[in-house]
Amino acid sequence: MKTIFVVRLFLTLLFTTVVLSAQEQGASSPAPSNGVVAAVINVVSSTPVAPIVTNAAASASSAGMVCDTKMASPTEAHSSFRSYCSVPVDGPYIAMSFDDGPSATLTPRLLDLLKQRGIKVTFFVIGQNVEHAPEIVARAAAEGHEIGNHTWDHPALTKLSDARVQEEINKTSEAIFKATGKKPVLLRPPYGAMNPRVHRLVEQDGMKVVLWSVDPNDWKRPGSAVVERRILAGAKPGAIILSHDIHPGTIEAMPSTLDALLAKGYKFVTVSELIAMESQHPKATTTALATATSPAKK
Ligand code: NI
Repeated sequence: MKTIFVVRLFLTLLFTTVVLSAQEQGASSPAPSNGVVAAVINVVSSTPVAPIVTNAAASASSAGMVCDTKMASPTEAHSSFRSYCSVPVDGPYIAMSFDDGPSATLTPRLLDLLKQRGIKVTFFVIGQNVEHAPEIVARAAAEGHEIGNHTWDHPALTKLSDARVQEEINKTSEAIFKATGKKPVLLRPPYGAMNPRVHRLVEQDGMKVVLWSVDPNDWKRPGSAVVERRILAGAKPGAIILSHDIHPGTIEAMPSTLDALLAKGYKFVTVSELIAMESQHPKATTTALATATSPAKK
C-alpha cells in the first residue's frame, strides 16, 4: 500500500514537471531565436545542450560555427559564452578583418590602400608570422588598426589540450606585445573552431572570441571580382567581414570593394570599436538600420 502511494506520488511529480517544462517552452516560443532563452530551456529540460545556431551563424560558411549567442556548457550549466559574429549597432558601422598575416609583400600594400582611404581595420595575425615581420605589425598598430590574436601556427584549438591552447594564445599575445607594446584583447579561432572549454580558456586570458558574419571564401582564390561581389552582398550595419591578407586576389579586390562600401555610406571601425557600440535595443536598431541603409540600395 505504501509502495503504491510512493509510485503515485512520483508519477504526479513527474507529470507536473513535464507540464511546467512544456509551459515554459510555450511561453518563450515567440522568441525562439533568443539564445539565452534557448539555453534556459535546455537547462530546464536537463538534456545535453546542443550548440545554438542563429541565423547569422547559418549564413556563415563554417559548419558548426556558434555565434552572436550565449553558448551554455553541458558541464557548466551556469556559465555561458559569447562569440561575436556581428554586433547590433545604431549606425552604418562595419568591421573589416584580415586573417593569417602579416604577409611581407601583401600586408604593406593593403596598409597603403587603407591609409589612402582613412580606413581602420582589424588584423588577426598568426604568431609565427609576427615573429618574422614584427615591423609590419608595428606599422599596422601605429596607423590605428587593431591587432588580434589568431594563434601561433593556426591549429583547430578544440583539438588541443588546455595547456596547448594556452600556449598557442599566450605565445602569440607576447609576440604582438613585443611588436606593438599592446596586448591583444580579441581572439579569432582558426577555422572558427570553438567550444565551451576553449572559450573559458580564452576568457581567462581576458579576451573576447570574434568570428564573422560575412565570408567571401577568398582563401579559395575565386578571383578579385568574386571576392568583391560576395563582400558587397553580405555587408550590412554591424557586420564583421572576414578576409585574408595573404592572397593576392583579396588585396586586388580591396580598392574597388572599399570604395563601394564607402559610397554606400558605411563607416569602418575596428572590431573592438564595433563591440563597444553594441546597442541595447537591437529590435529598434534593426528597423532604424533597415530604413537608414535602404537609400543606398539603388
Ligand atoms: Ni585563419
